[in-house]
Amino acid sequence: MRISVIGCGYLGAVHAASMAHLGHDVVGIDVDEAKIALLSAGRPPFFEPGLPEVLESAAPSGRLRFTTDFSAVSEADVHFVAVGTPQVADGDAADMRFVDAAFASLLEHVKPGDLIVGKSTVPVGTAARLAELVAQAQPEVTLAWNPEFLREGFAVSDTVSPDRLVYGVPEGESGERAAGLLDEVYASAVAAGTPVIVTDYATSELVKVSANAFLATKISFINAMAEIAEVTGADVTKLADAIGHDARIGRRFLNAGVGFGGGCLPKDIRAFSARARELGKGDAVRFLDEVDQINLRRRTRVVELVREEAGGLAGVRVGVLGLAFKPHSDDIRDSPALDIAMRLADAGAIVTATDPQAVENARRRAPQLRFAETAEDAVRDADVVVLITEWPEFTSLDPAAVGELVAHRTVIDGRNALDPAAWRGAGWTYRGLGR
Ligand code: UDX
Repeated sequence: MRISVIGCGYLGAVHAASMAHLGHDVVGIDVDEAKIALLSAGRPPFFEPGLPEVLESAAPSGRLRFTTDFSAVSEADVHFVAVGTPQVADGDAADMRFVDAAFASLLEHVKPGDLIVGKSTVPVGTAARLAELVAQAQPEVTLAWNPEFLREGFAVSDTVSPDRLVYGVPEGESGERAAGLLDEVYASAVAAGTPVIVTDYATSELVKVSANAFLATKISFINAMAEIAEVTGADVTKLADAIGHDARIGRRFLNAGVGFGGGCLPKDIRAFSARARELGKGDAVRFLDEVDQINLRRRTRVVELVREEAGGLAGVRVGVLGLAFKPHSDDIRDSPALDIAMRLADAGAIVTATDPQAVENARRRAPQLRFAETAEDAVRDADVVVLITEWPEFTSLDPAAVGELVAHRTVIDGRNALDPAAWRGAGWTYRGLGR
């Protein structure tokens, strides 16, 4: 099929490359010239495992190209809108500027029979509003909403082999045709038996935000238990193991630690609350404010643990392991690790931070921090070592060897990812979260 993808960020670039990998003819469009130049050269503008390979595999086929020229969408029949919906600067709501601009440009170039497919995470009600715009501008063009559930670090496999497909389509013939076209786009996943849920716009929009709200709630639930564990002497990791054996609960997303960050969960739950308030149903999701608060309190807890262990923060040397919001990513958007590193530095600590992929992004955002290329250099002469992003490079560190480098053997395990017995055995004071 002939596909255009508007927006080549974490979502759009992966979607465009994966669609070409699946055999479609794809043009990716973005206003950012630097990003387009990199992608055109087959180089990903960010770290994402598997993306270089799909970009490379698509190159010889000539099926994938990138451009800043919007008129290129006229070469395609199915148009995916994959631009960002960040949090507005002065509130909780989603900033819809990029989506609105993408639709305005798109409507100048689409032709009768085309299908526009929204992939961006949007407040419920957006697709219905945009469908009216589309109907006014191009009555023969249909809008579908097809949320994505990709996880950074697994974005390519989540796109090529999703665990479900959700199509929000209008009622009647145009909706049936839209669902048929999407089945063709995702032919390999459909043939592999991937569940397909065909529904209305509002449900498709809510599927995405409610999935993220559920995941965020699950993480904050276990982090709330961590708070209780901290005053009772219980061990939250054992608790998670025990309740996770109940198939109705499940062990995944019950890892207690510094909590969730990234470009999705934090801003999506805030945007969901803001939208619910607009709809007069703020009470229904008020718990999400609590989910957010529990999450943010964990970051404060780490800063307090460092203060407690070092007897203050001014002049204390802290080695911070991790800057990305999670391992296998260079994304520092709303990263607990960067937030904690900055708070420690603001309080007077001398922070040296490292990350296998996110140092450059972090340096641009927080030039006041010191950065190191390796874990060894980050922890050298440290009074306290803080692990915040559980990269395998960090969790596999040998406590005896690291002990030779530091000034004091004190480690704060912000992800409960280290073996307390091994670290204590090597003479370390070990502090986990909720244990
Ligand atoms: C998430 C959703 O998983 C994905 O479906 C959606 O499309 C976008 O948002 P992503 O932001 O890539 O994906 O990260 P995810 O793997 O979900 O992790 C989110 C955050 O939660 C990370 O900061 C992670 O460290 C944290 N987390 C995850 C925990 O603190 N504990 C857990 O048990 C799991």
